[in-house]
Amino acid sequence: MKSNEPKPTQPKLHHKGEALHQHFKLPGALTELNSLFANLAATKTLKISMDTVEVVRVTQIDIDQLQNIGRQTFAETFSSGNSEENMKEYLDNSFSTEKLKTELSDKNSEFYFALLGDRVVGYLKVNLGQSQTEMQDENALEIERIYVLKEYHGKKVGQLLYEKALEIAEQKGVDFVWLGVWEENPRAIQFYKKNGFVEFDKHIFKLGEDEQTDIMMKLQM
Ligand SMILES: CC(C)(COP(=O)(O)OP(=O)(O)OC[C@H]1O[C@@H](n2cnc3c(N)ncnc32)[C@H](O)[C@@H]1OP(=O)(O)O)[C@@H](O)C(=O)NCCC(=O)NCCS
Repeated sequence: MKSNEPKPTQPKLHHKGEALHQHFKLPGALTELNSLFANLAATKTLKISMDTVEVVRVTQIDIDQLQNIGRQTFAETFSSGNSEENMKEYLDNSFSTEKLKTELSDKNSEFYFALLGDRVVGYLKVNLGQSQTEMQDENALEIERIYVLKEYHGKKVGQLLYEKALEIAEQKGVDFVWLGVWEENPRAIQFYKKNGFVEFDKHIFKLGEDEQTDIMMKLQM
């Protein structure tokens, strides 16, 4: 599957115009100078060093980068457990330019990149209100996607994106945060458990022709 994937390019972002909401240092690379710059970056756009991961809102002009990171991380996560045909169908449909355009223009959905320098190393998608993929409650927030490039797993990039989701949940005043995670994805299940999520249901997720079980987890605010 992976060999058929177009090799994702990591072009420079066209802009960094949105406010930088959160940032952190990769472990082992902390310097006083960098943390001074990191603090400045909270209030304005600033290129710091290659060690700093920033969480930046994704807009329509970032659609190519979103498509690349979406396809690459999904393939990295699920190719080994699924048929090539089912993966291809899912990657083609769920990350098509048309679909992403629609999702990006939905005012109840928000995407964020985790940027390491100019490189997109992960992303987050959250849904509110009617845009939740399953209506649990109007006043809830769904974390539809948190995906980090495999080579950056275990470096707290996922945690940073998760904290962004929680910040949005707090700002919106939702009652709870929920998500669905494939039952055969122990790493992600453990990640959410560590953050206080508890299982409350199961549902069927369709990958191509294959029906799989997602565990539904929630965190009461
Ligand atoms: C799940 C994911 C977002 C976590 O991101 P991350 O940047 O690796 O997360 P962190 O470094 O903050 O935390 C890693 C956590 O994963 C869990 N974890 C790591 N390796 C694990 C393993 N082999 N088995 C079980 N849990 C594991 C632990 O809870 C670990 O936390 P700890 O280091 O405090 O023990 C990331 O692994 C990822 O993108 N996975 C692929 C996509 C995916 O499955 N997304 C979720 C779909 S719902």
